[in-house]
Amino acid sequence: MGRISTGVEGLDEMLQGGLIPGRTYLVKGGPGSGKTTLAVQFIMEGVKNGEKCLYMTLEESPKSLKENVAKFGFYLDHPNVMLIDARPGVTDMGDLFLDDFHAKLTQNFEGMIKSVEELLQSWEYSRVAIDPITMMKITLKDELDYRRLFLRFLEVLDRYNVTALFTAELISTDIEEYMASGVIELRTIETSTGRTLRGIKITKFRGSGFDDEMRPYSITERGMEVYSRIGFRETSV
Ligand SMILES: Nc1ncnc2c1ncn2[C@@H]1O[C@H](COP(=O)(O)OP(=O)(O)O)[C@@H](O)[C@H]1O
Ligand SMILES: [Mg+2]
Repeated sequence: MGRISTGVEGLDEMLQGGLIPGRTYLVKGGPGSGKTTLAVQFIMEGVKNGEKCLYMTLEESPKSLKENVAKFGFYLDHPNVMLIDARPGVTDMGDLFLDDFHAKLTQNFEGMIKSVEELLQSWEYSRVAIDPITMMKITLKDELDYRRLFLRFLEVLDRYNVTALFTAELISTDIEEYMASGVIELRTIETSTGRTLRGIKITKFRGSGFDDEMRPYSITERGMEVYSRIGFRETSV
């Protein structure tokens, strides 16, 4: 089965060559663990290969996202990247002039799914990042509604054969984990000497073997870097 790169070499190694295309993956981790960095790297890898990519930002504004990742040399202002502001309930002055598309998009999860489907119909995207899906939960009072819509969302992504990467906060990811083809966890470990280490671990990868041991990683000026296990003791945050 063919593989596609995540944009992070060490992670591709753990995945025995990369992600299986056309499926949905979950990246979970706490605030500042590097979820957005990884999601952007995944998108930029697609750009490098001439693929069309869709990035839905649900937490950071497009402006701050672009500024933050430019520090790593990642430029989201690229003709093959569609960066969509999907922050739920965004109500600044700009909203007075919201077009139908954005009004629907930011209203609720259902609206967002419809908007994504419209986008997938309009262009042949091959990579999609949703960062973070956690934000969609807050638009819904009922957990069952969220589950139903999440499944619908996966159906849409599946229909258009895109490789999708969802990010999520550590809290309350259950349906996402069951349904995703793969789960990548970004963890923080406190050592007995009070140092903080960062570790990346694959907990699930359907249809493939994988390295299930945690590896150290860090965020450098080049973005996320995953090291070999041997480096664990020497690596700090
Ligand atoms: N140029 C940089 N060099 C090193 N670390 C950085 C740089 N820019 C941001 N970081 C760190 O990388 C992390 C960015 O995390 P981010 O991908 O936004 O995490 P999340 O989306 O999980 O909250 C933060 O902990 C931040 O301190
Ligand atoms: Mg983030």
